[in-house]
Amino acid sequence: MASATPATIYLKDYTPPAFLISSVDLDVAVFEEHTRVASRLHVQRNPAAADPAAALVLDGEELVLESVSLDGHRLEEGTYTLTSERLTIPGVPDAFVLETVCRIRPQDNTKLSGFYVSKDGCFTQCEAEGFRRITFFIDRPDVMSRYTATLHADRRRYPVLLSNGNLVDLGDEVSSSGAPRHWAKWVDPFPKPSYLFAMVVAKLDVLEDTFVTRSGKHARLAIYVEPGKLDQADFAMQSLKKAMKWDEDVFGLELDLDQYMIVAVGDFNMGAMENKGLNIFNTKYVLARPDIATDIDYQNIDRVVAHEYFHNWTGNRVTCRDWFQLSLKEGLTVFRDQEFGADVYSRSVQRIREVRDLRARQFPEDAGPMAHPVRPQSYMEISNFYTATVYQKGAEVVRMIHTLIGARNFRKGMDLYFQRHDGQAVTTDDFVQAMADASGVDLTHFKRWYDQAGTPTLEVTDTYDSKSKRYTATIRQSCPSTPGRLTKAPFHIPLVLGLVAADGTDIPLQLEGESAAPASTRVLSVTQPEHRFTFVNVAERPVPSLARNFSAPVTLKYDYDVPRLTHLMANDTDAFNRWEAGQRLATTLMLKSVEDLQAGRSFGAPEAFIDAFGRVLADAPRDPAFAAEALTLPSETFIAEQMDVVDPDAIHAVRTRFARKIGEVLADELLAAYRGNAVPGPYSPDAESAGRRALRNLSLAYVMEGGTQAACDLVFEQFSTAGNMTDAIAALLVLADFDCGERTKALESFYEQWKDEPLVIDKWLRAQAISRLPGTLAEVKRLTGHPAFSIRNPNKVYALIGGFSMANHVRFHAADGSGYDFVADQVIALDALNPQVAARIARAFDRWRKFDSIRQAHARAALERIGRTTGLSKDVAEIATKALS
Ligand code: TRP
Ligand code: ZN
Repeated sequence: MASATPATIYLKDYTPPAFLISSVDLDVAVFEEHTRVASRLHVQRNPAAADPAAALVLDGEELVLESVSLDGHRLEEGTYTLTSERLTIPGVPDAFVLETVCRIRPQDNTKLSGFYVSKDGCFTQCEAEGFRRITFFIDRPDVMSRYTATLHADRRRYPVLLSNGNLVDLGDEVSSSGAPRHWAKWVDPFPKPSYLFAMVVAKLDVLEDTFVTRSGKHARLAIYVEPGKLDQADFAMQSLKKAMKWDEDVFGLELDLDQYMIVAVGDFNMGAMENKGLNIFNTKYVLARPDIATDIDYQNIDRVVAHEYFHNWTGNRVTCRDWFQLSLKEGLTVFRDQEFGADVYSRSVQRIREVRDLRARQFPEDAGPMAHPVRPQSYMEISNFYTATVYQKGAEVVRMIHTLIGARNFRKGMDLYFQRHDGQAVTTDDFVQAMADASGVDLTHFKRWYDQAGTPTLEVTDTYDSKSKRYTATIRQSCPSTPGRLTKAPFHIPLVLGLVAADGTDIPLQLEGESAAPASTRVLSVTQPEHRFTFVNVAERPVPSLARNFSAPVTLKYDYDVPRLTHLMANDTDAFNRWEAGQRLATTLMLKSVEDLQAGRSFGAPEAFIDAFGRVLADAPRDPAFAAEALTLPSETFIAEQMDVVDPDAIHAVRTRFARKIGEVLADELLAAYRGNAVPGPYSPDAESAGRRALRNLSLAYVMEGGTQAACDLVFEQFSTAGNMTDAIAALLVLADFDCGERTKALESFYEQWKDEPLVIDKWLRAQAISRLPGTLAEVKRLTGHPAFSIRNPNKVYALIGGFSMANHVRFHAADGSGYDFVADQVIALDALNPQVAARIARAFDRWRKFDSIRQAHARAALERIGRTTGLSKDVAEIATKALS
């Protein structure tokens, strides 16, 4: 029996809510068998509603309704209707108090949406539509209310009772059987949408600190973690204080609460959640200690703690009118956490990583069946739209505004945005309008970025006339069609450009008609399908440095040859484009090698390429972190995206051969970089130390590709003696790719050492899942039965199943379809427990149409099997339906 296609919800159908709810008073009692939720709502008809006589419709899911009363009178059955999704009460007055009592069972909540049990207690996740799984409510973000929550639980089992805002009262009580219980009452002074509600009933340890805001307020900061893990919470506390200071300094934004709490939980569908005053975090973005967390983990903690904190203004104080506006808060907040990261770490290295991530995840999304604009126009299940497009491309769109109007105007625009919209639920149009009004720049055309999906291509051709000293660049833009949209109107694209002379310096840029050259890097506005920009007084034929700092999320085409690319690699003043030139060179040569291999010709990395890489390595001491990025080959997934018909085996063979050639030819230099970048002293995750470790560990990986026993001994030696997790896991990842005795030894001893640290075991699972060895699928299958794995824990699923399906291109796309079959099995099994996580894993199939017909047939069969599953969730049904359509 095929499952029905879920209904589609459209942005164009938005209407204001029929009712508003000014206050919510919750009384939640957690018992062994069930949790009782009593709610008291002050409800009023919305003057802006279309129908002044509409019935009251409340969302509610998996709730057992015990009673409902209106203005103190209990409603009889038959005066309301109750379905599996809503409670409808017709004929209500214009203002009234509605009380409901219902029962929920957090211990059975495997979806991790609503109120659920994890190891140390009960936790909430309400974004996007989880609040309706706690109580009946108008569960949409334009209904903003003042919340009071009184929580009751067993005193010994759950000593910690938390909700949003301020603790106003607490006390002891006894259960009917005489067991000691307690209660706590929290009041949140700020009106908020239901998705920002949170409560925690648990046994946790707490790390406390104080932050004095710039206006002199003493705020209590608290991080709650699993008992015994306080020694892993310090870094997150430092991150929080750094973020608070940064938002004051850069945006003038101050904490508006007397206390700010973070709670870490091991079972969590996403990274973290910005609930007002009570953030709930996946443990992996809180817990850190040098022996268990890597440099990247530390950076992620900084970024995610900052991200959730920044949401307090961009998301909470000003929230979204509806879920189509999700990027209003997410794109803007990602942009803010990126800027924070750039200030804390290396700006250019952060930028390179952002772009690598955008190209690895968002570009394919934009070219596949789930392509959607930054502001989607429709969805079946909103949980499926917490995407790279809404987050990462959304941040790029905000960044382009920043580029077009400049940093000072951008700050003015932010100030105006808060001045106008504080306390409101608004749209991305409101945000852009504030930026336009504050800067005086017309952004009407620019707004197409919010409404048109797809990655535009900019094709640049140029001519130079040595007699007139004129250089002309012709720029053509186009955008491929995406589902539901064949043709695209041209975008407003900021193209940041420089012209590099033969001596490596930037040529001053004077456009035709100008009297002087104002700068040597300029922002050109590309708004038409075709443009021509002529620069005068250009003394020699330059090499163009295009889209410096990745000034727009586009694919840039220009016919660079090898000498020009190596010139940019060596000389471009824009660090991003130095990196970009190297990637372009590698990509071109790898694609050429793939063709050679397919045609049965000899293939591999040419000498010119190894020389260019060698020069980057020689220059590495100047900036090891940058060198590590520049010496990393484009990923197999990235190369695949550049091909019409993907050949994963050929790509894998080529990339491996390139790496091996680097390891062989540059063996001495790599060993020297390995030795020269040892970081002395106690571990610190600062940018400089982390950069040296990144280069050192990359060098080690290349040395190992060279294939000597000495190399293998060196890797194993690092594995055995590493003083921090960064170095240990780097060595383990290298060993996981080689079929040698050391591999087994290392994997076994790593497990023995870390079996009680779930976050470290996630790394161990992932290392095996992404191994390039041919036996990987069999190992992954075996690991699904290992005690270290649990299909109920999202981190474990993302590590093992996600690692295999999203980060092991060659094995997931095995020609016999075995990878697809396995992942389909996992999606089906997961869907019965946790549809949000299942749908994320199902996205691994997105690009199936880019492969050969044999692989396509296997992928189609796997997707169809998923689609046929009885009782399939909306979440997975949307992914499968779109992939197949
Ligand atoms: N708003 C969260 C963020 O900071 C995202 C999020 C957390 C989320 N948990 C979720 C989204 C569960 C959907 C479902 O980005
Ligand atoms: Zn966010």
